[in-house]
Amino acid sequence: MVEVLRSGQLSLGPKTVEFERRFASRLGTEHAMAVSSGTAGLHLALNAVGVGPGDEVITSPFSFVASANAILYTGAKPVFVDVDPISLTIDPDAVAAARTERTAALLPVDIFGMPARVDLLEKLGLPIVQDSCEALGAIDLEGIPVGGRGHPSVFGFYANKQMTTGEGGMVTCNDDSIRDVIASERNQGRAVDMGWLDHDRLGYNYRLSEIAAAIGLVQLDRLDGMLAMRTAVAELYAAALEGVDVELPVATWEGGTRGWFVYVVTLPASVDRDSIILSLRAAGIDCKPYLPALHLMGHLAEASGSIPGEFPVTEAAGSRGLALPFFPGLTETEVARVAQSLAAAMSNASDA
Ligand SMILES: Cc1ncc(COP(=O)(O)O)c(C=O)c1O
Repeated sequence: MVEVLRSGQLSLGPKTVEFERRFASRLGTEHAMAVSSGTAGLHLALNAVGVGPGDEVITSPFSFVASANAILYTGAKPVFVDVDPISLTIDPDAVAAARTERTAALLPVDIFGMPARVDLLEKLGLPIVQDSCEALGAIDLEGIPVGGRGHPSVFGFYANKQMTTGEGGMVTCNDDSIRDVIASERNQGRAVDMGWLDHDRLGYNYRLSEIAAAIGLVQLDRLDGMLAMRTAVAELYAAALEGVDVELPVATWEGGTRGWFVYVVTLPASVDRDSIILSLRAAGIDCKPYLPALHLMGHLAEASGSIPGEFPVTEAAGSRGLALPFFPGLTETEVARVAQSLAAAMSNASDA
């Protein structure tokens, strides 16, 4: 960072180029384009595969709001379909059933770092934009790093992610023309071979700064270690929560191996989640309900036409999921304290 500040080139410089080169090489893709956030990357990737007003994009209602909002930015309609109960990723059969002549793209989400069945979605022959914002380090069933299959895949570098640049994101892909659109639109519609103040398409300021790219390069050096620490914390939780009446997140499923992002347990339907959260908070442990179903949010219900009850798997996960504290430096003692407090809260809830 100091090197960047001394160089005077704070944007569009060599650190960004190097960060992109190393990210692409790690994932095994032809290209990686640094952007200002995961959300910006999703918007650009949808534009680059040709999604626009009047189109439909099939996606998951069990996601962070940004994946569906990015569809709205393009003027297209998000079409939600339910998710698989184990992976909480989009169900490929439901996707096939929801396809219409207006379907312009699919937007699977590797939620909680779990690889979606993109191999099956590819068989539908539609453009795919993969939301891998939570999934750095995940490996799909064919042993390919998530984000490495070649169609545009988007990563986010917000502070809670597997690696961070403060704010930031990256889009990987193999296609030169998709790379060209993203490279231009992130920089106000100026192609890489065009001069300053020349623009030939609508663009945005979705650039990543050189300072952020410098942080990203150091984070990449540390990434394997940080991923291993996350996996170790997940293993500690699995051991510590044995015997507690909650469903634990799995490390692998038929779609591949998770890149651990959060540790979300599912409470029994009979337990009042809010009372568990309050008990844990009283013990000094902050937990969150995770994640609310997107099709129940006002603007997305209106845009998609979805109604409550339409996606039971998503709604069950949305009403019963509880995110426990989860970060690389969490110690065995801290994990044990969370597990004991959760067990105590559960037994108080069942006595009540
Ligand atoms: C699934 C998912 N999609 C998209 C995003 C958006 O990324 P960002 O916050 O970098 O815009 C996030 C993270 O915040 C996310 O978790």
